[in-house]
Amino acid sequence: MPKTDVLVLGSGIAGLSYALKVAECFPEKKIVILTKSDESESNTKYAQGGIATVINNQGDSYEKHISDTLKAGDGLCNLKVVQAVVEEGPQRLHELINWGINFDKSKLGNYDLGLEGGHSEHRILHFKDITGYEVERKLIIKIKQQQNITLLTSHFAVDLITEHQLKSQKSQQKLNCYGAYVFNQKTQEIVTFKAKCILLATGGIGQVYRNTTNPIIATGDGIAMAYRAKAKISNMEFIQFHPTALAHQFSHGRSFLISEAVRGLGAILKNEQGEAFMHKYDVRKELASRDIVSRAIDNELKISGADFVYLDCMSISKKDFMENFPNIYAQCIDIGIDINKQMIPVTPAAHYLCGGIDVDINGCTSIQHLYACGECAHTGLHGANRLASNSLLEALVFAHRCFKETIKNIEQIENKISIPDWDGENTFETKERILITHNRKELKSIMSDYVGIIRTHERLMRASKRLNVLFEETEDLYQKSKLSTPLFELRNMISTAYLIVEQSMKRVENKGGFYNSDLN
Ligand code: FAD
Ligand code: SIN
Repeated sequence: MPKTDVLVLGSGIAGLSYALKVAECFPEKKIVILTKSDESESNTKYAQGGIATVINNQGDSYEKHISDTLKAGDGLCNLKVVQAVVEEGPQRLHELINWGINFDKSKLGNYDLGLEGGHSEHRILHFKDITGYEVERKLIIKIKQQQNITLLTSHFAVDLITEHQLKSQKSQQKLNCYGAYVFNQKTQEIVTFKAKCILLATGGIGQVYRNTTNPIIATGDGIAMAYRAKAKISNMEFIQFHPTALAHQFSHGRSFLISEAVRGLGAILKNEQGEAFMHKYDVRKELASRDIVSRAIDNELKISGADFVYLDCMSISKKDFMENFPNIYAQCIDIGIDINKQMIPVTPAAHYLCGGIDVDINGCTSIQHLYACGECAHTGLHGANRLASNSLLEALVFAHRCFKETIKNIEQIENKISIPDWDGENTFETKERILITHNRKELKSIMSDYVGIIRTHERLMRASKRLNVLFEETEDLYQKSKLSTPLFELRNMISTAYLIVEQSMKRVENKGGFYNSDLN
C-alpha cells in the first residue's frame, strides 16, 4: 500500500500550485500527485483570456474588482471570500511570475492588461491567447525539479477513504479522510493510497453536456467522490455557459473557445441577418456578463431557428488580432475561416461550474484532512455567476490557503489506522461496452436538452426521471463488470448530473447563470 504525507488528486493549476508550495516548505515530506490522463491534460491547459487581478493601480482598485465580482455573482457571493481573493491576488500572481510564468507586456514594459465581459477596467494578465498552456507547462517543469514530489499519470482516483470504508463510523462523529482508492490504468489494478492530508483538485464537469469547452477529463469525478463520501456539495445549478464557442465540433470531444477577450478588443455579435443584437439586451452590449450574453444568443437562435450566431472581428486589424490571438487565428484558418474576411460561427457551450464541494475560507471541506480547491470547489467567490478570468485566480488563492492549512495541521495527524484493500471481487469482463458509451451519450443529451441555459419545471422533471433509469442501469453494470475508466466516469457523470438537476429543482428564484422560465 503506497503511503505518502500528502496526496493531491489533479494536476491543473490548483493541484500543481498547492503541491509545489507544500514541497518547497517541507523538503522532508512526500507528496504524490495523481492524474487520470497525461500530466498536463486539464481545463487549465486550455485557458485563454488570462487571470484577473489588480496589478495596475492607475485607475483600477480592489474596490472595483470586488464590485465587478459581486455584480456578476448576482447577490450570492460571499463578500469575505471575494475580498480575500481579490486582495491576495497580486501576491499570488507575483509568485507565478517568480516561478517563470510569462505574461505579455506592452512596449513600455507594463503588463498588457486585457478586458473581458463584466469588468469595469482592463485587468486581465495573459500570455497571448494561450495563458493556461503557459501556466500548466511551467508549473509541470517546476514540479519535476522538486525531489519530494512524485507525479503519476494514468492514475484514476475512484473513491475517497473515510470511516465508510472502515465501517467504523459512530453517529455524530466527524468523518476523516485517510486516502483514496486509485485505478492504475496501466496495470488495471486498484491501488490504495494512504495519506495524512488529501487535496481534491479534480476540476470541472463540462463533459456532462453535449457541447462544452472542457476537455474529456472534465467529468465531475472529484465532486462525485466527495458526494459519495458524504461531503457537502452546493450551488451545482449554476453552470456557466460561455457565449462564444466555435460552432465546429472537433473530434476530441470539446468545442474550441473564442475568448471573451476578442469581444474585449471590439468584435461584435451578429445574427443570421448580419444584424448586431446585443444592444437589445444590455447597455454593456457584447461586454455584458456571460449569463446575459449567452441567454441573448439563445433567444436569437430560437427566433431564427439557426444553430449559431456570428462573431464579426473585421473591425480588428489583422496585426492586432494575430498579435493577441495567434491560436484562435490559426484554429479559424484550419477550418477555412479568415477572420479578416468572414465572420466566425459561434454558439454558447457549457464552460464552468460555479458550485461544487463546499469549502470554508481556508479550503477545508466538511471532512477532516480533506481539502478542495480550483473548479471542483465551491468557495463562495462566484455566487450565481463567475466573472471572467476569476477562476485561475481563485484556484491560486485557495491552493495557497489549503497549503497554509496543511502546514498548520500535518504534524498532528497520525493516520495509523489500518485500511482494507479495495473490495473488487466478483467482477468479470463485460461484453456490453456499448451500454457504457450509449449511456454516456444519452446523459449528455438529457442534460443539454433539459438542463441547459433555459430550464423549466417540466424539463427538470423529465431529466430527473431519465437520470434515474440511467443510474439504475449503470449501477447494475458496475456491480457486474470489470472495472474500467469509462465506467467509473459514467457513474461520476450521473451523480454530477443528478446534483445539478436536484439543486436546480430546489431553486425558487432566477439568479445569475440560473434561469428557469417558470419562475418569472
Ligand atoms: P483542471 O485544470 O481541470 O485540472 C483537473 C485535474 O484533475 C486534471 O489533471 C485531471 O486529469 C485531474 N482529474 C480529474 N478527475 C480525476 C480522477 N478521477 N483521478 C485523477 N485525476 C483526476 N479561467 C480563467 O480564470 N481564465 C481563463 O482565461 C479561462 N479560460 C478558459 C478556457 C477554457 C477553454 C476552459 C475550458 C476553461 C477556462 N477557464 C478560464 C476556467 C479555468 O481554466 C478552470 O476553471 C481552471 O483551470 C480549473 O483548474 P483546476 O486545477 O481546478 O482543474
Ligand atoms: C475566455 O477567454 O473567454 C475565458 C475566460 C474565462 O473563462 O474566465
